[in-house]
Amino acid sequence: MRFSPHLLDEIRARLPVSQVVARKVNLKRQGRELVGLSPFKTEKTPSFTVNDQKGFYHCFATGEHGDIFTFLMKTEGMPFPEAVERLAEEAGVELPKAEPPTPEAKQQIDARQRLYELVEEAARYFSANLNAAGGEFARNYLARRGLTHETIAHFRLGYALEGRTQLKAHLQKAGFSEREMVASGMLIGGPEIREPYDRFRHRVMFPIMDMKGRVIAFGGRALDADQPAKYLNSNDTSLFHKGKILFNAHNARTAAFEKSNVIAVEGYMDVIALAQAGFNETVAPLGTALTEDQVQLLWRMAPEPILCFDGDAAGRKAAFRGIDVALPMLKPGVSLRFAFLPDGVDPDDLVRESGAEGLEGILAKARPMVDVLFEREWGDGDWTTPERRAGLEVRMKQVIAGISDETIRSHYDRDIRSRLFQAWRSMPSAGRFDGTPKGEKPVSISQPSLKRPNGGRRNFPGRGAPGGLASAGLAHASESLKRSARAGGHGAALKPREALILLCLVNHPFLIDERAEEIAGLGFASQQACDLRDAILSAHAMEKTLDREALRSHLDRLGHGESLLRIGQLMLHRSDRFAEPDAEAHSVREGFDHVIALQQGRTGLSRPLGAGHLRR
Ligand code: UTP
Ligand code: MN
Repeated sequence: MRFSPHLLDEIRARLPVSQVVARKVNLKRQGRELVGLSPFKTEKTPSFTVNDQKGFYHCFATGEHGDIFTFLMKTEGMPFPEAVERLAEEAGVELPKAEPPTPEAKQQIDARQRLYELVEEAARYFSANLNAAGGEFARNYLARRGLTHETIAHFRLGYALEGRTQLKAHLQKAGFSEREMVASGMLIGGPEIREPYDRFRHRVMFPIMDMKGRVIAFGGRALDADQPAKYLNSNDTSLFHKGKILFNAHNARTAAFEKSNVIAVEGYMDVIALAQAGFNETVAPLGTALTEDQVQLLWRMAPEPILCFDGDAAGRKAAFRGIDVALPMLKPGVSLRFAFLPDGVDPDDLVRESGAEGLEGILAKARPMVDVLFEREWGDGDWTTPERRAGLEVRMKQVIAGISDETIRSHYDRDIRSRLFQAWRSMPSAGRFDGTPKGEKPVSISQPSLKRPNGGRRNFPGRGAPGGLASAGLAHASESLKRSARAGGHGAALKPREALILLCLVNHPFLIDERAEEIAGLGFASQQACDLRDAILSAHAMEKTLDREALRSHLDRLGHGESLLRIGQLMLHRSDRFAEPDAEAHSVREGFDHVIALQQGRTGLSRPLGAGHLRR
């Protein structure tokens, strides 16, 4: 380890947490502690506390907890060593000198230092060009694109003159060698090139900075329409690895923290236009699709970065690629969101045409990753045969298997399963009365994890059909019978056991989460029970973290108030106490298991009876 615990303690001792935190958070004294609004979430009542004696902060809203170093890491996306350096300086603690480098290492460090100086010199030169007489054309271009002087200065935009040796001559005068110029990417050179020449000619120049704000490379936009490459980037050098850098990350990270959001767009001009419109938390990759490193970088700035894409096919494809990159790396609480712009409009166009509000509107509609993933796999949606539906399920399974985090994987699994469940039941040919063969696998994309009392071979009862009639049974029923079955005209009285099951679900919504699949497969005798069950499941499918109250009011809003009342009036036997709101989770599970098993047994037995009942 580079920093000894002793050294870190010394820095901690000299810098009260409150002093470091106070730059971000307004703190008020409250007894031994200081309190303020949490920097980790938007809140109205303070839940963020700082204890200088103990040397830590704690956020009761988010559970964030740490010391001065983690505070900088969390709030400014700083890597640990950088946080230590910064705070050491502030505390006046001297960091130990690193081992004296070997002569070769020293040479390497010096060589890098020279390259930093070289590209910085190039940035100054381009900027001067833009403001000099020869830069008029480029100045006009930028003005036409709506950039203000402040924006141009803030991004240090510049202009590379026409001609093959302008920069070269300048850097020569500044004392840099041709070899260094080639190594920095500023000149194109190589074994088969006799005379190395300026890479960027007659282009608007966008300096690319590292996290510390040092210039490390450039992007250049052609000013002539007939240029083969509209944008040209520095090649990878010892300072610049394009897959590891995001344009504007250095500026964006402070803003990103403040807004608890970061936006990734496609191009330089998009970043600049958005920043000018007030979205400083914007970054872009450098002409390539997002890499793993770049996604990690985004996550250091905000938990759910929004990737902003064109709404056309290419944009969707780019979004899909983003999913593939991010899926294996998802962590609890950390994901990507996807915002789609109108077809053929890039973010730059959008803010120019509809201002910051226009973009806000698009960002507000950003969709969670699971949504876009589902849509991708769903494709054109021709899932009219069991084989195709099975194919889709298998494919979904494979995709989900690519998630490395176990908790995330299980939640994806659940979520996708509910979505498929919803989808199949609303699809006519996959629906209730299509004669789905007996024994067709229930919608499941999980490993067989749910307990199945009948040994896992469970029929897929006609969902929503009265009496839990297996679709196989119904296949033989006449059309009119099917219709009357659908209308729920028979045997509609709510059965006590069914009411008990539903009451238990409503009072203990965690069961819905745990047992969605079984619940979906339950056969009920009354339409009312089916309807309420379906409403409960669909509430669950909407990914709400359902507490009892939320679920009840949701069901009420959907017009199930009467059913709720009915099940509430149920006379509970002593053995049915598990369904009551104050029952303990373990007895709830036990009681529910029991009543479900009874219900499933009944369904199995009553199937022929059910058909008979219809015939009556
Ligand atoms: P776009 O072609 O979408 O350009 O490229 P843009 O951002 O709308 O540019 P303007 O508005 O016409 O100036 C998006 C990004 O793709 C990379 C660049 O990083 C650019 O910002 N790109 C594009 C290249 O690397 N090379 C190209 O030839 C074109
Ligand atoms: Mn554009």
